[in-house]
Amino acid sequence: MERKYGLIGHPVSHSLSPQMHAAAYQSLHLDATYEAMDVPPVQLKAMLHKVRAGNIDGLNVTLPHKVAVLPYLDELDEDAHAIGAVNTIVRCGHRLIGKNTDGTGYMTALLARVDARKLACANVLVIGAGGAARAIVYALCKHGVGYVTVANRTLTRAQQLVAHFPQWPVKAAPLLQVEEDLSPYDVLIQTTSVGMTPHVREIPLSLETLAQHTFVSEIIYHPIETALIKTAKARGNKTSPGIGMFVEQAALSIYYWTQRWPDRVPMTETVLKLTK
Ligand code: ATR
Repeated sequence: MERKYGLIGHPVSHSLSPQMHAAAYQSLHLDATYEAMDVPPVQLKAMLHKVRAGNIDGLNVTLPHKVAVLPYLDELDEDAHAIGAVNTIVRCGHRLIGKNTDGTGYMTALLARVDARKLACANVLVIGAGGAARAIVYALCKHGVGYVTVANRTLTRAQQLVAHFPQWPVKAAPLLQVEEDLSPYDVLIQTTSVGMTPHVREIPLSLETLAQHTFVSEIIYHPIETALIKTAKARGNKTSPGIGMFVEQAALSIYYWTQRWPDRVPMTETVLKLTK
């Protein structure tokens, strides 16, 4: 029987997820569809009621609903609870379980590029303090990564993020101050929306003080290489673009829905084709 999956957000028309999921399902020989559904906030409750009734087997959730869906779910897993947001809903009968695959998806992509042993004592700088940053900081801490600094344009938002993880070595800093000396950081992770298509020339911070050994990681995947990644590469730094996280968070959602891992290669190729 055909399984029905989808994405809810507002807007979602530009999402690359339907094509990427189609490639994933093909790799699993899965009889399934994935539809991007534009759900304005006033329709969110009714939409989740439809899911609970059994019309849809699983959902991805994107902006602006990642936090707003929480009251309509029956359970949250550990990651969704700690991150305070949901990007994946699994329907078990008439129960809805909220999960979050962003942090683990990011970590899987990072570990494909960086030697895990180097992360144990690493000094990590996270740029931005939004939902994506919170998922990534949580995943870094859970993996026991050395030290994390959250640098944000608005310091209070960084402080609020850090306050969620009092048991871990995470601190907040103003972006302008951190930018003055980037040399202490082993890994820099860019989580803001700065540089996303169509604003491809924008860069959230100057890399003038960046050390040669710093690994520069980005979560934006459209364009495939942001101005930040291009600048870091031109300086001779090792980098990883955001496509890895995009593919891995989707692969983990599919695993949660089907208990099977899709092939990342056709998923990645599909996204590369669509962002050319
Ligand atoms: P998400 O949940 O997708 O991470 P968000 O909550 O809107 O998105 O967060 C966006 C992040 O990008 C914030 O950290 C924001 O900084 P502020 O808290 O100061 O607004 C950051 N951001 C957006 N535009 C920026 C810019 N031009 N320069 C630096 N940071 C920027």
